[in-house]
Amino acid sequence: MKHFIQHGRISTYEHAASVTRLSFYLNRRLRLGASDPELVRGAFLHDFYLYDWHDSASHKRLHGFHHPVVALKNAMQRYALSPVEQNIIKSHMWPLTLFSVPKCRAAVIVCLADKICSAYETVVRKRSFPC
Ligand SMILES: [Fe+2]
Ligand SMILES: [Fe+2]
Repeated sequence: MKHFIQHGRISTYEHAASVTRLSFYLNRRLRLGASDPELVRGAFLHDFYLYDWHDSASHKRLHGFHHPVVALKNAMQRYALSPVEQNIIKSHMWPLTLFSVPKCRAAVIVCLADKICSAYETVVRKRSFPC
């Protein structure tokens, strides 16, 4: 993940770390009640697709729609994931992925944190989220 660019100059690893930190912060600060271990694992693996999405030859389908499925497949090949962690990864692009809906608090938190971090990295600072 450190070798692939996510947004601007931000690597996928840095993006995942930012999403994880923001998700953890929101869960604790707003007392949302999601399981911290599942939230952190799902958040860190949510973009575990392991290719350069800017290179069209590196993937077969539209990246935005399909990378959650690739990330989930890669993560499940390496780790034993709970249903919550699986839902976090698969649904993080909702509502773009219309039928992959966040079904638990942790998935809703990561879905939101991903959008905040992505917008911040792309538009505002072009570096990792400072929290
Ligand atoms: Fe993603
Ligand atoms: Fe992401």
